[in-house]
Amino acid sequence: MSRILRVLDNSANAQQARVGQMTKEELRSLEAWFQKYLDRFRDGDGVLHPMLELKRCHSIRVAENAAFIAVSLKAPEPEKYLAEGAGLIHDVGRFIQYAEYGTFGDVDTVDHGIEGRKVLETEDTPFLNSPGDREQLLCAVEYHNKSRKDIPRDLSREQDRLLRLTRDADKLDIMELILCITASHDFQDLSTMLPRIRLCREVSPEVLQEAQNTQSVSYGNLSTLGDILVLIATWFYELNYLSALRLAMERDVLSRIRSELPEEEAIDDLFAGITFRASGFMEDLQCTEK
Ligand SMILES: [Fe+2]
Repeated sequence: MSRILRVLDNSANAQQARVGQMTKEELRSLEAWFQKYLDRFRDGDGVLHPMLELKRCHSIRVAENAAFIAVSLKAPEPEKYLAEGAGLIHDVGRFIQYAEYGTFGDVDTVDHGIEGRKVLETEDTPFLNSPGDREQLLCAVEYHNKSRKDIPRDLSREQDRLLRLTRDADKLDIMELILCITASHDFQDLSTMLPRIRLCREVSPEVLQEAQNTQSVSYGNLSTLGDILVLIATWFYELNYLSALRLAMERDVLSRIRSELPEEEAIDDLFAGITFRASGFMEDLQCTEK
C-alpha cells in the first residue's frame, strides 16, 4: 500500500475502528500479571539484572507513549487501555530471551516478538478474557518488531490499528534510548545487549545503500553503532500517527542522530531525503487525522 493510501487508511481507521473492550480493571490485572511475571527473573534480593531492568523501564515508557498516541487519536477509553496494555507487554519475550541466551540479539537467538506471543499463550493471563482483545494483543506483541514486509497483509482493521500504534510507541522510546546511550558514550548496555555490534559511528556501505534504496534497514545487516543510528533515522518513514511523528520532530531526533554520524555527502543526502519526507508526511497526517 502506498504511503498516501496508508495515511488515508489511518484516517479511516481513526474514524471507523473502535478497538478494544478492555476495562480499567483488566488493565490493572495485566499490569499485576506483568509485575508477577518479572518477579521470576529477580535474584534472591529481589533485583532484576540491569539489562532486564532496562527492559522493564522501556516497557513502562512504551505503555505511556501508547496511551499518549491513543489519547491524541481521541480513542475511546477501552482502546486507550488496550493500547497501554500492549505497550507494557510488547517486549514480554525479552525476559526469557535474556535469561536463556544472555543477549537481546534476535538474529543469533530467537525472535522476541514470537517468543512474547508464546509466553502469553502459555501463561495464565486473566486479562485476556475478551477474544477480540486477546487476538489484538497477541498480534501486537508478535509483530511489533517485524520488518514491514514481514507483517501479514490480512490483519483485521483492529489488529492493524493496535499494531501500528504499538510500533510507533516502541520506536519513539528506542530512538530516545539509543540517542541517550550514544550521547553519553556509555556503551556498556549496548554491547551487552547486542554483542555483535562494533561501537564506531562508521556506516556500513551496504546499510547506507539499503537505507537509500528501500527506506529501511534489515536487522541482519547491522554491524556498527552508525548502522543502528541510520536504522532509527529510517523509522521516520514508518511512523504511522501524527502525534508520534510530531513528538519525534519536537525532540529534534533527526538532527540529533545526524550529528552523531560522520560528515559524508551520502549521509547528508540520506538525511535530507528523510527530512523532506517527514515534513510531507506531517502535512498529510495533519489533514487526515483532523
Ligand atoms: Fe521489542
